[in-house]
Amino acid sequence: MEQLIISGRRRLQGSIAVSGAKNAALAVIPAALCAGAPCVIDNLPVIDDVFNYVDILRRLGAGCDFLDRNTLRIDPSSAAPIPADFDSARKIRASYYVLGALLGRFGEAAVTLPGGCNFGSRPIDLHIKGFEALGAEVRIEHGIVYARADRLVGAHVYLNASVGATINVMLAAINAEGVTVIENAAREPHVVDVANFLNFIGADIKGAGTDTIRISGKEPLRGGDYTIIPDMIETGTYMIAGAVTGGDVTVSNIIPKHMESLTSKLKEMDCGIEEGEDAIRVMARGQLSPASIKTQVYPGFPTDLQPQMTALLATINGASSMTETVFDNRFQYIGELERLGAKITLEGRTALIDGGVALTGAEVTATDLRGGIALIIAGLSAYGETRLNNVHYVDRGYEDFEDKLRYLGADITRRETAVFEIPAGIL
Ligand code: EPZ
Repeated sequence: MEQLIISGRRRLQGSIAVSGAKNAALAVIPAALCAGAPCVIDNLPVIDDVFNYVDILRRLGAGCDFLDRNTLRIDPSSAAPIPADFDSARKIRASYYVLGALLGRFGEAAVTLPGGCNFGSRPIDLHIKGFEALGAEVRIEHGIVYARADRLVGAHVYLNASVGATINVMLAAINAEGVTVIENAAREPHVVDVANFLNFIGADIKGAGTDTIRISGKEPLRGGDYTIIPDMIETGTYMIAGAVTGGDVTVSNIIPKHMESLTSKLKEMDCGIEEGEDAIRVMARGQLSPASIKTQVYPGFPTDLQPQMTALLATINGASSMTETVFDNRFQYIGELERLGAKITLEGRTALIDGGVALTGAEVTATDLRGGIALIIAGLSAYGETRLNNVHYVDRGYEDFEDKLRYLGADITRRETAVFEIPAGIL
C-alpha cells in the first residue's frame, strides 16, 4: 500500500503549469466514439481515470494509442456497442458517457452503473430521462444500464444543471433527427469543451456555456485533432495550497475567467491576487480572514474545491462556514481533518469551522479524490509529519502532484507500506 509523507510548515513559492482538465478529458475521450474518423486528443492529464477510459475504449474495440504521455489517437471505426461491463468502467463515474456516445452512433449501448467518488446517492435518472425524451428505451438489469432506440428524434429536455446528464444527452442528440433543446443545462467549462470538440468534428451545437443548448442532428461526423482546456479544479487546488502555507504561488497555463468565484473569495479573505493573461499569482501575506462559502453550479463556487477550501478555512482565525448545495454528503473527509486538529461541526449541509487552530501532523486516510487532496493541503500547513493513506484516490485526478508541490517547496514523499505494519519493538 502506498502512503504520502508530508512535513508541514514549508512556505510554497514559485510557478507551476496546470495540466489538462480531468472532467473535460473524461468526456472528450468517449465523445471521440461519435467521430466518423480518427481523432487526436492533446493536453490529456496523466491520471488514472484517463487510463481507465483508454481501457474502456479498447475493450469496446476502438483503436486507442498514446502518441505521447498527454496525447491520444482514437480510431472509433472498429468500436462496437458491446456491454461495457468492465472493471475500468465500474471504477469511474464518467463511464456513463459511453451510453450517450454509442446510443447516438449505433442506436444501442450498455454500460455498468458508474462508480466514482462516494458522496451519498449519485443517481443517473436525469441521463435516463434525457435518453427517453429522445425516443430511447432504457432499462437497468444486473447492474447494467441498457439503452436502445430504433430512431432518435430531437426533443426538449430539462436537466437541472447536471453536468453529466447535459454532456450525455448532447452525445446522443448529435445523431438524433431534428433539433434537441436542453433547458437548464450545466454551464461548466468542460461542458463547453465537449461541445467545442463535437462542433469541431462536424456537429451543430449552439449555446454551450449557457443554460440553454440547441443541438441539431447531423450526418456522419468527421475526425479531427483537439486540445483539452486546462483544469480549473487543479488550478484552484494549487492556489489554495499557496494560500494555506502563507506562500507566493503562480499557477500558469490557465484560463483566469474559469477561476473568478475562487479568486474573488480569496481576495475577500485578504489574499493578494495578481491576474495575468493565462496565469494567476496568489500571495498570502499575513493573516487571512475567515469566510462563509456556499458551493453552487458554475459559475458559482465549485463543489470540487469545497474540501480544499474547507481545509484552508480550518487554519484561519475566526468562524467560517462551508455549505455544500450540490451533493448530499460531501463532508466525509472532515473526520480525517479533525485528526489533524481541525475544529469543525457539521449541521446538515453546512460545516461550521472554528478556524485558527494550529494543525498537527497525523496519519489520515483519503475518502475520495478531492477529500484526499484537501488532507494534503492541511498537511502542508500542519506542524510535524502527516501520513496519507489511500493515495490512489488522489492519483485519479492530479497529474504529477507530488512533483509540482515539491517544485514549489513542499516536503512530500511517497513510500510503500506493508499492508499491516508490525509496531516497532513488538518482536
Ligand atoms: C461531474 O459529476 C463531475 N465528474 C464531478 O467531479 C463534479 O463534482 C460534478 O460534475 C458537479 O460539478 C465528472 O465530470 C466525471 P452532476 P456528475 O450530474 O456529472 C444530481 C471530481 O471531483 N444528479 O452535475 O455526477 C447529483 O446526485 C468529480 O472531479 C441527479 O440527481 O455531477 C448531484 O447531487 C466529483 N440525477 C447533482 O445532481 C442525475 O441523473 C450534480 O450532479 C445526475 C445528477
